[in-house]
Amino acid sequence: MHKLKVGVAGLGRAFTLMLPTFLLDPRVQLVAAADPRAAARDQFVSDFNGRSYVSVEELVTDSEVEIVYISTPHQMHAKHTKLAAMHGKHVLVEKPMALDIDDCRAMIDVCAKANVKLIVGHSHSFDMPFLKAKELITSGELGQVKMIHAMYYTDFLYRPRRPEELNTEEGGGVIFSQAAHQVDIVRLLAGSPVESVRAELGAWDKSRPTEGAYSGLMRFKNGAFASLTYSGFAHFDSDEYCGWIGEMGQRKNPESYGVARKKLKEIVNAEDEAKIKNEGTYGGPNYVAPQIDCVDGLGSWYQHFGSFIISCEFGDVRPLPDGVVVYGDNGKKLLPLPRPEIPRQEVIDEVYNVVRLNRPAIHDGSWAMATLETCLAMLTSGNERREVFFN
Ligand SMILES: NC(=O)c1ccc[n+]([C@@H]2O[C@H](COP(=O)([O-])OP(=O)(O)OC[C@H]3O[C@@H](n4cnc5c(N)ncnc54)[C@H](O)[C@@H]3O)[C@@H](O)[C@H]2O)c1
Repeated sequence: MHKLKVGVAGLGRAFTLMLPTFLLDPRVQLVAAADPRAAARDQFVSDFNGRSYVSVEELVTDSEVEIVYISTPHQMHAKHTKLAAMHGKHVLVEKPMALDIDDCRAMIDVCAKANVKLIVGHSHSFDMPFLKAKELITSGELGQVKMIHAMYYTDFLYRPRRPEELNTEEGGGVIFSQAAHQVDIVRLLAGSPVESVRAELGAWDKSRPTEGAYSGLMRFKNGAFASLTYSGFAHFDSDEYCGWIGEMGQRKNPESYGVARKKLKEIVNAEDEAKIKNEGTYGGPNYVAPQIDCVDGLGSWYQHFGSFIISCEFGDVRPLPDGVVVYGDNGKKLLPLPRPEIPRQEVIDEVYNVVRLNRPAIHDGSWAMATLETCLAMLTSGNERREVFFN
């Protein structure tokens, strides 16, 4: 098999969440990485016997790298995508694609001109239960999709953060980081362009001065509508509604209530907080590799993004970490999914199909730009207290 030779730009948390996928999927080989943190570079070299670089500028000149996985902070995605494309590398760039639409357009253009593929992910809309729910909806068996409910309550805002992650201007807050998942999933399930958005934004903790919560109402051109609620300020953990399976497909302990807030209380300032984040990430002294080879560890079930109910004309559908439940006129049934062999394998499926088999991507640049446009409309709607319409 002709493996995908991947170079990683940014060895932080996103990379560690993709690491089990890269390690376990035989279609992938990690050959090089770039990160300004020496400790992360050293760990990469020792783990993969690969090459490491201080900058993405150097990484993209590595002739073995065929595709660059860009997991640098949001505000760098556009610059790093351009660098990769201009050196003839395909791009897998983390969500959100960028912070504004001009950057998204530039990313799409530069990749098209260089004749390289652009895929945006991981986003949870890659998760198999959502793909299965989508397949079911598309089959028409339940009639047309009419209404979608999406809801997730987490402690997102209380996990250790870099200062810019708490500043909306620089891409901080839950709209850029979390609506990017939820909107992507809802758009996939609705199967139609967004017509309008009305959102309210919650920024009620002054010590974390960005949006930590939102509620939004979206209308689609096909007449379907969706309500989206997210709280990263939550005390309640809505993984309870997913059988205590966490976002990464791991078994969660319901007794570990409030851990993120407790740990944060011990941190005195922003500098220390950023340091603690770095120390716990790849290469740092407190880094713990994802638990993949233990019972109930990461990827034991499918990953998810909270609670979803999709109402169609003749039935309701609930994607869950172990399958999809269909509530029809004549009863309910679970369409079980076999346990995932490799966490987030769906990402590599799409990358492989696009890069090796020249098939179209679901999560291409235009797709991800439309998700960002919706997220930006949520910010506008919330800040200006009005509905935002799309042409
Ligand atoms: N899909 C997901 O589940 C998921 C999860 C987490 C983060 N993300 C996304 O990944 C991106 C990174 O977020 P994160 O939480 O991993 O941040 P992070 O701070 O943990 O990691 C960023 C990494 O990039 C490195 N970096 C900074 N500047 C760089 C440069 N110029 N060149 C190369 N490397 C550089 C940092 O040293 C760090 O190792 C964000 O866009 C975020 O939205 C996605």
